[in-house]
Order: sequence, then structure tokens, then C-alpha cells
Amino acid sequence: MNKSDFSKKIIEWYKENKRDLPWRDTKDPYSIWLSEIILQQTRVAQGLPYFERFIENFPTIFSLAAAKEKDVLRLWQGLGYYTRARNLHRCAKVIAEERNGSFPINFIDLQKLPGIGVYTAAAIASFAFLEPVAVVDGNVFRVLSRVIGIDHDIGSAEGKEFFSKKANELISKDQPDLFNQAIMEFGALQCLPKNPKCDECIFRKSCVARTRGWQDQLPVKSKKIKIRKRYFYYLVIEQNKKIMMRKREGKDIWKGLYDFPLIEMSRPQKTEMIMRQAEELLSLNKKLKIDDSSPTYRHVLSHQILHAKFIFMQLSQKQSEYIELKKDEGRFYTKASIHKLPKPILINRYLLDSGIL
Ligand code: ADE
Repeated sequence: MNKSDFSKKIIEWYKENKRDLPWRDTKDPYSIWLSEIILQQTRVAQGLPYFERFIENFPTIFSLAAAKEKDVLRLWQGLGYYTRARNLHRCAKVIAEERNGSFPINFIDLQKLPGIGVYTAAAIASFAFLEPVAVVDGNVFRVLSRVIGIDHDIGSAEGKEFFSKKANELISKDQPDLFNQAIMEFGALQCLPKNPKCDECIFRKSCVARTRGWQDQLPVKSKKIKIRKRYFYYLVIEQNKKIMMRKREGKDIWKGLYDFPLIEMSRPQKTEMIMRQAEELLSLNKKLKIDDSSPTYRHVLSHQILHAKFIFMQLSQKQSEYIELKKDEGRFYTKASIHKLPKPILINRYLLDSGIL
């Protein structure tokens, strides 16, 4: 399929299938801008009543500029991300007060206004002023990646750039407004994220995703790997020259290796707080006394960063009588046997640093 075929076909489809929406079939940049800012926050069905309320309350850019910020925010209520509403108001003021109410008429100058980024500038420039500059949003990624077969990562800057270049090659120079509306509408109604309507699609014969069965794989979006931070407070309990250790079980890291009784926290804690938990863990009916406390060890795993602190406690024979460990929390090992136990590197580091081993 050549370039102009794609654009002709999708515009033709749009004319027959488009939803009737109040911001379409207008060249008024104020309505277009307002609708695009709202639609970045929500879907069409939910955004429509907001658009109507805004237009009713503020029919012109001058009335919006003259409004109190709190009234703008009140109308925006429910859409979330209130910086967007504040920028909307700021932008209206700039246009009303510094530009006599006229929007800039091209893609580059539009981006100089508060809250107008590449996407919104492309939408206003093409819809209102027929500048042939492609909008690139989630719909565009989906439609192009599938129909043409693009597997660049839409989560990367290079990937986004590639899609933008492609869309700008394909855009109709005569009808950039219809082309941009069409590709977004096609993504919203036909080329759906889940269960796209491939059997009745105008591109069904040539679509790469359909012919290869890649609808679920395209577009490619690499997930940012989230690094989990964990805070480990290890209780190193010595008694009669033996150290308490326990075997790690369950679905976590280091299954089957040996470490110490552990209090894990999602953020750093004061030692006093840890000691209260330790007393509970060890079912000790008398206060534990810390003999030494290690510096924090930082241990990096593939998707986790551990911050570990080792709290060393020596128990007298008498004290130890009170310890009643919950099942599987550990038992005492001689240093010779600890030497032989399989241990995570972090534990080994500590045992060596502390002189225990
Ligand atoms: N989503 C973002 N912009 C849109 C528009 N102009 N029409 C429909 N949905 C949209």
C-alpha cells in the first residue's frame, strides 16, 4: 500500500464512520484547543459534558481569561491533574491580554504558550489552520504499528521520533485536518487496543499485524523496570558462642539459603522501632539489649536494592530461656557449621566484616 492510499482510505473511512462531536467541523482554535486539553485528561464520552460546560460558562477566550482561577478549577473538578487547568487559564490570559485574543497560527509558535506541547500544537495547527503536521498519540502508535508493522518501542524517545516521522510522511497535505482526526478516530473505534475489529477493517488485506497475527504484540511498549527498595533489619543473636540463623523459604529471593531472623520494612526505621518488633518476633518478655549495630550495607540485585543493617545481640544463658521463636524462625548454629551453610553474599560479607567468621 502506498502513502496516498493509506491516507485516502483512512479519510474515506472517517467520513463514513466518525462520531458527531462539537469540536469537529469547526475551525475555531479556541474550541479546538479547549477540547484537546480536556481530551488529554479523559475519554470522549466523559470529556464531552466538560467541554459543553466550559463553552457555556466561557464562550470566548476573553471570558475564560477574565474568570477567577477557582471557578476554572471548579469546572475542571473531576478531571484530575489540576496543573492542566491552571495552564489552561494562564494560556487564555496570555492570548487575551498579550495577543488580542488570537492564537498563533502555526505549529512552532503554538508551542510557546503555557500548557501547549507538541501534541496540542499539532492538533490546533492542523485542525484550525490546515498545517500538515501529524498528531502523534496512543491511537496513532497503535494504528501505524499494526497496519505498517512497526516494532519500535513507543516508550523510548527514538521510537516516538520514528512514529512521528512516519505519520508526517503519510499525512495528507491537502487534508491534514481530516487525516489527523481520521487516524485518531480509527484507533478509538476500529483498531482497538484489545479485540480490534480486524474482520471488518479497511486494511484487513494488507495490515501486517493482522496477516501475521501480531495484534496483541503491537505496538511494542517496553515496561520500565521498577527497582524495589527493601530495608532489612537483621537480628544477629549470639548465645553460647552460637549464632541464630534461619533457612529462607517462600517465594522471595534466596530461597533455601540461610540468613538471620529478619524484620523487613518498606522504608528506613529508627533502631528503637526495630527493637520493639524484635521483642515481639522473639517473644521475649524482657527488654533486648543491643551490643552492636552495623553500618548500612547496600546490596544491589537485578530488580531490587537492599539496605541491610545487622543488629548484634548477645544473650546470657538466663536471657535465652525467655526466647521462644516462632516456628521456623531459626535455630542456633556453631560458627563451624555456619561456615558450611549456604548463605547469600550479603550475609557472608557481614559475617566476615564483623569477625564472627
Ligand atoms: N482524542 C483526542 N483528540 C480527539 C479528537 N479531536 N477527537 C476525538 N478524540 C480525540
